[in-house]
Amino acid sequence: ISSLPTEKGWHPGNLYQYQGFWHLSQHLQKILTCQNQFEARDSDIILVTSPKCGTTWLKAMAFALVNRTKFNPKSTQHPLLSNNPQELVPCLEFAFESPKPNGVDSSPLPTPRLFSTHLPLVSMPESVKKSDCSCKIVYLCRNPKDTFVSLFHWEIKLRTEEMRSNLLEETFQNFCRGVSLYGPFWDHALGYWKQSLENPERVLFLRYEEMKEEPGNQLRKLADFIGCPFSKEEESFNVVHQISKLCSFDHLSNLEVNRTGKLSYGYNNSAFFRRGEVGDWKNHLTPQMAQKLDQISKEKWGDSGLTF
Ligand code: A3P
Repeated sequence: ISSLPTEKGWHPGNLYQYQGFWHLSQHLQKILTCQNQFEARDSDIILVTSPKCGTTWLKAMAFALVNRTKFNPKSTQHPLLSNNPQELVPCLEFAFESPKPNGVDSSPLPTPRLFSTHLPLVSMPESVKKSDCSCKIVYLCRNPKDTFVSLFHWEIKLRTEEMRSNLLEETFQNFCRGVSLYGPFWDHALGYWKQSLENPERVLFLRYEEMKEEPGNQLRKLADFIGCPFSKEEESFNVVHQISKLCSFDHLSNLEVNRTGKLSYGYNNSAFFRRGEVGDWKNHLTPQMAQKLDQISKEKWGDSGLTF
């Protein structure tokens, strides 16, 4: 474990590098505990993202999908109408915190248990990495330019006014050299991408852009992968469309709970909804910055087949 050479005002917390990825110091103990103590079940479904790649959206989709018999997506009592998706799917590395930050206790969760995590593949719990474990991993990735812009807007919220000067350039330089939460972003994605090619039964790789383009088809893909495909009857009742509408940015971001509510561990629910679009980077990055990110993607992902 090595710490980041102190850079004035980089982040309100200290970053430490562990197994090649950067983490907030206050998360490290939780990550270690999770690595050693989490006992995966074959029926578990683990949603993985780099921060700002659409975690909230994927949580909503997977929750609605897995629970669609219990909670009709059109029901006025659906949990997504009164809870931020972050609350409905516990985060793996914080499920071992005591006292629980958001009341998460993984043991009584209904089967299949749904978890989310930002952990890179190398730091996944030992029980998940075992060759005889057949739990499912769903990785959602996003193009590096929009991911960076979204991350930058998130960073702004964490800073005091005086720490905001020159923030875009500073955050950009750090992101490019791999120093971002759970970064390097490119290594994070590449690890899961390779696994999805080698072991497609266990790892499904999704792209934010494709979910925006054709949410219905991506939902079907997700449903097939996690073993709960849509039946002919459900197709005829348009359940796919109902779920994608329920989980859409416009719908979720305008719900009262997501406009005014707070997560039990402090963040405003609204912080997880900003623009929800593809290509917002054009409004924030200079051509040189965009070029630089493209160049890094080329270098890092090379001929792996991972492109955006
Ligand atoms: P932007 O900042 O580009 O708007 P995460 O959930 O991993 O923190 O990612 C947050 C990003 O996903 C934000 O991107 C947010 O607006 C977007 N987002 C949240 N909910 C979404 C939804 N239902 N559909 C599409 N994008 C969504």
